[in-house]
Amino acid sequence: MKDRRLVVMISGFGSNLQAILDACAAGRLPARVVLVVSNRKEAYGLVRAQRAGVPTLYFPLKPYRERGLDRAVYDRDLAERILPYRPDLIVLAGWMHILSPAFLERFPGRVINLHPALPGMFPGMNAIQRAFEAYQRGEIAYSGCMVHIVTPAVDEGPVLAQAIVPILLEDTLATLEARMHEAEHRVIIEGIRRALEMCE
Ligand code: GAR
Repeated sequence: MKDRRLVVMISGFGSNLQAILDACAAGRLPARVVLVVSNRKEAYGLVRAQRAGVPTLYFPLKPYRERGLDRAVYDRDLAERILPYRPDLIVLAGWMHILSPAFLERFPGRVINLHPALPGMFPGMNAIQRAFEAYQRGEIAYSGCMVHIVTPAVDEGPVLAQAIVPILLEDTLATLEARMHEAEHRVIIEGIRRALEMCE
């Protein structure tokens, strides 16, 4: 099977992007990353992409906001910039913007998202911290992470891969975050593999 074309979208450190780049390089994924998109200029993930020889696109929302333009205009323009790279799959790996139908309808069923919580739990920002706090209040015994197909609902949609991440009595937020990221680096690869099988 020919290598599939991945576009990875990030906003920060890019440890999950690194897991994807490593899996592609090691032949653990029948794919290659053809573009990394960031909405933040200082995202360390951009450095990781450059080191791997992958083209990058920095595409901030701020200029659109300053011109009073609708969010859908940003999303439509972003899709236009990505289309020439002919992605088989778009992977949101720490992309901290919600994508509207103006973006999603250009890549139907081909956008997947990594979220640091189990399905239906802690959608949106700071999911790990909210799980940690819920654990301390005795409301949950564990958390987890998942990869799902993106729909207009936030952090929801058909689940492709998931893993439970235990929370321990002695955990700090930092130790829980570290355990979560370790699980994510496996789940993101499994989720991409499943998604590629589905769009064969
Ligand atoms: C990951 O924990 C990912 O699940 C989360 O951002 C982090 C990015 O880490 N995404 C969300 O919270 C999306 N709702 P990374 O930049 O090191 O890959």
